[in-house]
Amino acid sequence: MSQVKYIAGKEPHANESRVVFKNVDREGWDQSIETYIKDGGYEQQKKAFKMEPGDITEEVKKAGLRGRGGAGFPAGLKWSFLPPNNDKPVYLICNADESEPGTFKDRYIIHQDPHQLIEGMAISCFAVGAKLAYIYIREEFPEGAQILETAIEEAHKKGFLGKDILGTGFDLEIYVHRGAGAYICGEETGLIESLEGKRPYPRIKPPYFPAAMGLYLCPTIVNNVETLCHVKHIIGSGGEAWSKTGTPNNTGTRILCVSGDVQKPGYFEVQVGKVTLGELINDMCGGLKEGRKLKAVIPGGSSAKVLRADETFKVGRGDDEKEISIWDIPMDFDTLAACGSMAGSGGVIIMDDSRSMSWVINNLNNFYAHESCGQCTPCREGSLWMKKITDRVVAGKAAPSDIDQLDAVARNIDGRTICAFGEAASWPTESFVDKFRDELVADTKPELEEAFVNAESLTAAANLK
Ligand SMILES: Cc1cc2nc3c(=O)[nH]c(=O)nc-3n(C[C@H](O)[C@H](O)[C@H](O)COP(=O)(O)O)c2cc1C
Ligand code: SF4
Repeated sequence: MSQVKYIAGKEPHANESRVVFKNVDREGWDQSIETYIKDGGYEQQKKAFKMEPGDITEEVKKAGLRGRGGAGFPAGLKWSFLPPNNDKPVYLICNADESEPGTFKDRYIIHQDPHQLIEGMAISCFAVGAKLAYIYIREEFPEGAQILETAIEEAHKKGFLGKDILGTGFDLEIYVHRGAGAYICGEETGLIESLEGKRPYPRIKPPYFPAAMGLYLCPTIVNNVETLCHVKHIIGSGGEAWSKTGTPNNTGTRILCVSGDVQKPGYFEVQVGKVTLGELINDMCGGLKEGRKLKAVIPGGSSAKVLRADETFKVGRGDDEKEISIWDIPMDFDTLAACGSMAGSGGVIIMDDSRSMSWVINNLNNFYAHESCGQCTPCREGSLWMKKITDRVVAGKAAPSDIDQLDAVARNIDGRTICAFGEAASWPTESFVDKFRDELVADTKPELEEAFVNAESLTAAANLK
């Protein structure tokens, strides 16, 4: 790693441990297969293709790799859910939809290091017995799709894809599929429907767990871009050695994407749990903006519950239990869950004291109301209600009791829908009401309480300036 040089002004921070992002912003680097091979690329594929497929899955399990797409589900365990003695084709899908607001990591891997993804996919396909794989990429990344297609062609010509790869008798084709640009296409079963050429209506789980009934109702593995890249590095170092980075149960590195009110927003690859939120904000992002105080953080993409700057969090168990401030939260899956939020997709959104929380939650509600696929009534109607209520709050046309109504609508979506979009849409509202109720109520007008009891006065309220 020490010989790797980065473009001036784009050097990784000293707290970073670049593995998947090793070649992002690297001096003299390009996307060609020649450059990749010169750097040791495709060596892990050669190594993996000499292994038994089941042993690759075992290495991924030993590594403790958790999915980087949102839920943090263990990748090796997911792979082992594929039915044994199955006579249907098995598919692997790389989820490159990257639709969670606040997340911008997969696009850099695709743009700057496409062969790393292809190698990770080839090894993963060999492990799970998939001879056909898709990269589902959102329509808004046309350049990324082209880069991937070129890289696939190059890998074909060098014999890393196609028929009888590396003389193993194993055949593999990878296709790039452009999505239509909808958030719900990132949800794995919506994605599968879309790949089949239909509207991306998510499927009910059970029975439609992709590993059992996925693409064309065949066993299918869906993994995120970053997750699949890690597979290559696990084979390189061995699962055991890989698991020594990061922290127990939160192993390896992950890319955090920081946006919002900091001096230097950007992407940072860190060992999971080895960097606290305070170090991320103050050391790596240059601190908050001049003269500003931290107000809140959404730590894992827009669907994650918001954390207040002045609250404390109970983390650890038994003798290890302690209370910590927001600055001391290690950015790992388990601690963020213990803090009542989630590590999600790694999108960390920082808000300072200049932000109106009514405006922020309204902005989020606009997004979720627009993106609901409309299949389930609580989500379709509820997401629009939440948007309409917060529209009124920011316009100064809401009554204090609207905030209770807002909370009730959110809680009637959560847990009552076909897919996890229901939680993604309701958690922001639930947490903003929990944590910033006073501020939301302060943006309402008590005099409208009376007005809302009859339709005439409702019209009068709507006309209020
Ligand atoms: C509404 C919604 C949107 C999602 N969007 C994405 C996405 O853009 N990219 C992604 O990798 N996973 C996304 N996911 C998670 C996927 O459903 C799936 O869990 C993930 O791709 C699995 O990969 P992993 O195990 O490697 O994390 C989304 C989930 C939901 C509910
Ligand atoms: S929860 Fe929302 S996005 Fe998911 S299936 Fe139901 S309506 Fe569609």
